[in-house]
Amino acid sequence: MSQQGTEASEAEIAVHWQEEGSVNPPEKFVVQANLTDKTVLERFSLDNFPDCFKEYADLQTAIHFVPEPEQEGTQHVTYQELFVRVNEVAALLRDFCGLKKGDRVTLHMPMVPELPITMLACARLGVVHSQVFSGFSGKATADRIVDAESHVLITMDAYYRGGQLLDHKQKADVAVDEAEKEGVKVEKVLVWQRYPGRYSSPTPLVAGRDFVMNEVLSGFRRHRIDPVEMLAEEPLFLMYTSGTTGRPKGCQHSTGGYLSYVAGTSKYIQDIHPEDVYWCMADIGWITGHSYIVYGPLALAASSVVYEGLPTHPDAGRPWRIAEELAVNIFHTSPTAIRALRRAGPDEPRKYNHRFKHMTTVGEPIEPAVWRWYYDVVGKGEAVIVDTWWQTENGGFLCSTVPAIHPMKPGSAGPGVPGIHPIIYDEVGNEIPPRSGRAGNICIQNPWPGSFQTIWKDPDRFVQQYYARYCKDRNSRDWRDWPYMAGDGALQAADGYYRILGRIDDVINVAGHRLGTKEIESASLLVEEIAEAAVVPARDDIKGKVPDLYVSLKPGLAASEDIRKRVEDSVIREIGPIARPRRVVIVPDMPKTRSGKIMRRVLGAISNNEDAGDISTLANPEVVDEIRKIKA
Ligand code: PRX
Repeated sequence: MSQQGTEASEAEIAVHWQEEGSVNPPEKFVVQANLTDKTVLERFSLDNFPDCFKEYADLQTAIHFVPEPEQEGTQHVTYQELFVRVNEVAALLRDFCGLKKGDRVTLHMPMVPELPITMLACARLGVVHSQVFSGFSGKATADRIVDAESHVLITMDAYYRGGQLLDHKQKADVAVDEAEKEGVKVEKVLVWQRYPGRYSSPTPLVAGRDFVMNEVLSGFRRHRIDPVEMLAEEPLFLMYTSGTTGRPKGCQHSTGGYLSYVAGTSKYIQDIHPEDVYWCMADIGWITGHSYIVYGPLALAASSVVYEGLPTHPDAGRPWRIAEELAVNIFHTSPTAIRALRRAGPDEPRKYNHRFKHMTTVGEPIEPAVWRWYYDVVGKGEAVIVDTWWQTENGGFLCSTVPAIHPMKPGSAGPGVPGIHPIIYDEVGNEIPPRSGRAGNICIQNPWPGSFQTIWKDPDRFVQQYYARYCKDRNSRDWRDWPYMAGDGALQAADGYYRILGRIDDVINVAGHRLGTKEIESASLLVEEIAEAAVVPARDDIKGKVPDLYVSLKPGLAASEDIRKRVEDSVIREIGPIARPRRVVIVPDMPKTRSGKIMRRVLGAISNNEDAGDISTLANPEVVDEIRKIKA
């Protein structure tokens, strides 16, 4: 039979069928369906062909990289490209560096797609990554290299921040030298290039030690690596955070528990769907970026935005332009960033057509007035807000409203997220009655999958710092006897929402990040003339809190601008500009108790122009007025 004949007969059969009545899809299906927006047919009309299919192409994207210089344009990394690049880097780490499961690698990388690519390559090999915030100094990086005993450092030549192409490679040289002094030799430094094929740092490469990633990678094109099998309990990464002593703690996070916790909370609390474009403005160098830029959103197959630079560069409209261009619909940032954007451009968000369905705040308490601006102006009154309280140690959120279930309350984090059961204890270990509005130390009664497993190489400190205080029975192996102490003061209001009041230990929360006062004090004591140092938190309109540093000099020395400057430089060299004191005050003596303890409470009152309260118990009450005069 001819082809023509076949077609004719099929067409005839078709017309013999009667028109039927229509059958509607079950409601149960409709409410969960991916496509319910009936305007889709207009979007895909012939007039919009072929651009309409960009909507499908966009589902592919894993990472949108937005360089700080606006003229550079956004780079899109699809899931397929991510897979290819992660495999190539994993092959390089295994075969060029000899890295294997359980080895540690320190990363000191800025906000570029190569950072998640490198992290995922480590994960593929079971290599434990330890990413150090790019703003930290070479010395701070060295301390983390030494603690983790990393023999490979991965960095980048340069990156943009505030309109400057910063030389980042120089910090790697400092880090390697300092680490060697402390007994750990870095064998290889792998240097990504901000502009592939062009070395953008004035700091030369060290022959035999430093290797340009893109050059070495050319030998690994299209290599595929089977993922190394990992038990759920084996470590995925270390993330260092400040504590009450001078030494940062390496929080060890697990593979299975951590990944499931960040995937679950990204889905339920961040409300991320695969088709969402999600932008968390944190830095991947902090836990927020690990959990809620890299692992959580990518586990859910969403698109995650990585922005290189300052939110206010070149102006306070930048975030809203990015959001508009990429159709970001879930936005995540800190109160510090919100305050800065509000001050620099209170009306900027109104100029752009971005539309958020969901917004997050994290890292520090948010003042109700700032919350309102976030809600009304940034979210245009359409976006739900979650205020998420948690810590580096926790892997993911501890307290937050569930966005479609609980009402929001400005300034309050909300109840424990599903599966998290907070409890508040007083100083002596009695439970503060639930919903009483009375403040105490917030703890979590039960363990959860995202929790850190220990402090790297310091299991005793892990128990001591987080579990000993409210432990009911030191010999017990029952979790009910071991509540987790977060180190924050909090109260639970009558409605069951928790309000977080701040740290109860010697940690200052600056711009949503923890700095140990002891770290800053130790850095200032490196200046020869300094006898004593005390750091206290001073209130700041933008950053929430900033460190004020009080120092006294060794006997017989006179205060000078030169000493003050060297103290400030030492803090920046040892830790990084994030720890820069608001002011360094050289005092004739510290306010002290008769037993010689420095009364930081009194210094804190001076810094914040508050009444110092009862100072009659001081050994040297007269110094309080002297300090007030010097500070003024
Ligand atoms: O004091 C709490 C504060 O930040 C501390 C944790 O800091 P870090 O480990 O750097 O992690 C920051 C991002 C997870 C906490 O002990 N904090 C965090 N989130 C909030 C908060 N304070 C009030 N409200 C929050 N939502």
